[in-house]
Amino acid sequence: MKKPFKRILYGGDYNPNQWPREVWEEDMRMFRDAGINSATINVFSWAKIQPSEEQYDFRELDEIVEMLEKENYDIVMATSTAALPAWLVKRYPVVARTDYEGRHHKFGQRHNACPNSPVYQKYAAALVEKLAERYGKTGKVSCWHVNNEYGGECYCENCEKAFRVWLRKKYHTIEELNKAWNLEFWGHTIYDWDEIVLPNALSEGIGEDKTAFAGISIDYRRFNSDSILENFKMERDIIRKYDPDTPITTNLMGTYKGLDYFKWGKEMDIVSWDNYPSYDTPWSGTAMCHDLMRGLKNEPFMLMEQTPSQQNWQPYNSLKKPGQMRAQSYQTMAHGADTIQFFQLRRSVGACEKFHGAVIAHAGTENTRVFREVAQLGHELEQLGDTILGSMPDSRIGVIFDWDNYWALEYTSGPNKDLMYVDQIHQYYRSLYKKNYSVDMIPTDGDFSKYQVIVAPVLYMVKEGVAEALEAFVKAGGTLITTFMSGIVGQSDNVYLGGYPGPLRSMAGVWVEEIDALAPEQENTVRFQDGTTGTCRLLCDLMHTEGAEVIAEYTSNFYAGLPVVTKNSYGKGTVYYVGANLDEASLDRVMEQAVQGAGVAPVIGEKTDLEVAVRENDTTKFYFIMNFQGEDLALPELFAGSVDLLTGEKLESGRIMKPYDVAVVEIEK
Ligand code: GLA
Ligand code: ZN
Repeated sequence: MKKPFKRILYGGDYNPNQWPREVWEEDMRMFRDAGINSATINVFSWAKIQPSEEQYDFRELDEIVEMLEKENYDIVMATSTAALPAWLVKRYPVVARTDYEGRHHKFGQRHNACPNSPVYQKYAAALVEKLAERYGKTGKVSCWHVNNEYGGECYCENCEKAFRVWLRKKYHTIEELNKAWNLEFWGHTIYDWDEIVLPNALSEGIGEDKTAFAGISIDYRRFNSDSILENFKMERDIIRKYDPDTPITTNLMGTYKGLDYFKWGKEMDIVSWDNYPSYDTPWSGTAMCHDLMRGLKNEPFMLMEQTPSQQNWQPYNSLKKPGQMRAQSYQTMAHGADTIQFFQLRRSVGACEKFHGAVIAHAGTENTRVFREVAQLGHELEQLGDTILGSMPDSRIGVIFDWDNYWALEYTSGPNKDLMYVDQIHQYYRSLYKKNYSVDMIPTDGDFSKYQVIVAPVLYMVKEGVAEALEAFVKAGGTLITTFMSGIVGQSDNVYLGGYPGPLRSMAGVWVEEIDALAPEQENTVRFQDGTTGTCRLLCDLMHTEGAEVIAEYTSNFYAGLPVVTKNSYGKGTVYYVGANLDEASLDRVMEQAVQGAGVAPVIGEKTDLEVAVRENDTTKFYFIMNFQGEDLALPELFAGSVDLLTGEKLESGRIMKPYDVAVVEIEK
């Protein structure tokens, strides 16, 4: 059990540098009342701590650190390299990015540095060296926060050169490269590494997210993710020289498409992420993101940011309703967070985030609804103490999430433009979530042995070794659920010839001959063996069984009578193949059959619409019981007579949980 912190960090992004000194004192007084014990500082202060190329100035940051120290804060120290100072861009324009359209940017905004610019690297490294030297040995920092929300792309000449180097390392010869990218197509054969250009709007790009050569564009995404990861590693290694123990992180963004977070997780001491659901994000979607972030290292994570109430950057920035922020925070912890941090502690006075929620609003007082809710949660977390720290869910179901597949599937031209990777994964996750099954989000190269069920929706790209690993898993008795658009291409996006689903064909016991695409207004009907009926949309496989049993078949279109869902016994295990995008109830039926057949139980036996999630350690299970349904629901009997750790209150049998009500109960194992 890993415990990077001694207590639940509770606080968030704090920018006293934007405020006069009198305000700092007020802040400290109010935060004390709210149980805040942590602050993330220096996130965007490069221009402040290095006013010119020759000059560093840490006076103000020293004062901030000293003030927080006095108040016994856990300091999360950011490195400030996520927004370039104006003087740097003016003197060295090369540090800025060139965008997808090929336009080289001027000074402005943030997350704006070219990851492959040696000049950016030099100045970022120098800054981090100074910071680590100054604060790394003091014992005052509880966590290092490198940069901020890494992401985006650069298409400059430096990146182009670096791409060629990356490709040479990967493919060794031009012939291999030509083969991997299938460059015989449209006569794109390359004879020299220097002929390679970045795939943007000026070359292979078609609109913002399509490409003439998915193989090139997928490699660019891998390269870009690696390039930015090198920036992270550079800063991390500098900090390590001065500070051998303190955890180093950077804040990730859930299912953000641009970076292969499973690769990133391996380089981070602890994963942290920023959770910004919008008013209509389903709770299952948020839960899935948490499980994904926990899955990156298979360890507890930090919630680095959430808003106490509103955001500013969504189209509709609804308030969080009374109790919602609290419930959201406990859901976060239920899925593995050991910290709850906000963006931001005080609402800024100007620029684009002045309408972003904060612990202290523009009114400047503690006499607000939001402040009171933050304070209530702060006191509850104090009560909770360190009991849950380090505990983890123990799941028997793994859902595969894979960035290569994310990219490959969405670059693909045809058969249906509406096919979205995260949405597909979420449909399967949601089905398990609704029944309170504990789920791990896992990579394609993870250890499958602890799972009884693996769900691999739209496993379009089957990379080297993956089919073999899945086959071994099934042969040993595991249950695999896979779907349409699986087993189609290898790691360079070239098709497995000989019939879909390629390397999954024999274990699935089906051959997919054709794939139909339906427009949004179209649907097909399906019928299960027991007579229940349903519908499907988006994509429909026309398949033949090769040993598999038919679970459901189409009842409309010219392929009525063909199988749509199948089940195949393979070795000691079972493979379900879902050949179309089923309606929710039909998908639930298939999932229930598969999961029950595999002998996996949900975290609670009783049927309930409450979300119930469990974290456990060697001796104890912590049940988080949450009502996200918008209506009163009865507490499951399992918890009758237990004490709610948040309130100290004994939970009576038949107790009603109101919308956003939460209880946390511990049960000895
Ligand atoms: C991101 C950033 C923060 C802030 C918030 C606003 O998460 O990391 O600096 O801009 O968004 O929601
Ligand atoms: Zn660049």
